[in-house]
Amino acid sequence: MAQEKMSEIPASEITPKQIYMNRRKFMAAAVAGAAALASDRAMHLAHASPVEAAEALSTVKSQYSTPGLTPTSLFDITHYNNFYEFGVDKDDPAKNAWRLKTRPWSVKVEGLVQQERTFDIDDLLKLRPMEERVYRFRCVEAWSMVIPWAGYSLSELIKECEPKPEAKYIQFVSLASTKDELLPWNAGISWPYTEGLRMDEAMHPLTLLTFGLYGQDLPNQDGAPVRVVVPWKYGFKSAKSIVKIRFVKNQPGTTWNEMAPNEYGFYSNVNPNRDHPRWSQKRERVIGAPLWKQSQPTLMFNGYGDQVASLYKGMDLIKDY
Ligand code: MTE
Repeated sequence: MAQEKMSEIPASEITPKQIYMNRRKFMAAAVAGAAALASDRAMHLAHASPVEAAEALSTVKSQYSTPGLTPTSLFDITHYNNFYEFGVDKDDPAKNAWRLKTRPWSVKVEGLVQQERTFDIDDLLKLRPMEERVYRFRCVEAWSMVIPWAGYSLSELIKECEPKPEAKYIQFVSLASTKDELLPWNAGISWPYTEGLRMDEAMHPLTLLTFGLYGQDLPNQDGAPVRVVVPWKYGFKSAKSIVKIRFVKNQPGTTWNEMAPNEYGFYSNVNPNRDHPRWSQKRERVIGAPLWKQSQPTLMFNGYGDQVASLYKGMDLIKDY
């Protein structure tokens, strides 16, 4: 997705050892024992850059978890990321997202609601029981993972906020560009990162307000302390490190759609029949899979068609991509 390459990180920006050692959380090495890590992954960890492991969350099993999937290793989930605020290369967020301070943190809910509110992240975490949901995750760049997220349906928060009937869309705003932890680089997109959903998509029980993965707080590079995950859409719909949720009447602006509308539609439902103008969406590369299983066919709605296809009845999904 990168449009421009950012400049090299100055040596002064590299994390001094004592800073990351002193942080509340430990480093990726601390989770090297995680059951899902295959031994070759553990080899890689020996050379890992400082990546934060997280605090344990208590989760309950979820009826919305996708059965029969083998989760991608924690190493790959935390070292192959898109989080342009922290760099445009896949391993940049693992190197740079330690800068993100996730406490104190609040999420402001504004726009067409009965009462505008600001939730402290620790209250948001406790609003509903945390569910573990294993979902397929498909990036528009034609790679995929399987991720065991922790969170609860976004609809639970929406109901709590009492949107007005005129609210037809919801917009998510990621961390503000003024936050001092962001590096002053030009990733080719404008900040803050924004995304949006139609209200019925946001209310769908599969749409997850996400606080963790692998039973722990979200690592910074995966969008701590809170992000959304919309499993039937391309990954860029899943805004990370959210600070604001707006209820609005009209289709809101979203970062990638505003930048290149012919490449990134507002809906961005995973669709093998609708190629990206620069590459095919028919197949995907499975990150971390053995060589002979690395390419697999892409599924319509990323395999969630039974649950979500009815949301798009009567729409032409080649036109409304
Ligand atoms: N959210 C913010 N704030 N900034 C980003 O650059 N990248 C998006 C999405 N959310 C992005 C973001 C893209 S392109 C993808 S594919 C997913 O986050 C990647 O999530 P992951 O790194 O946890 O796999």
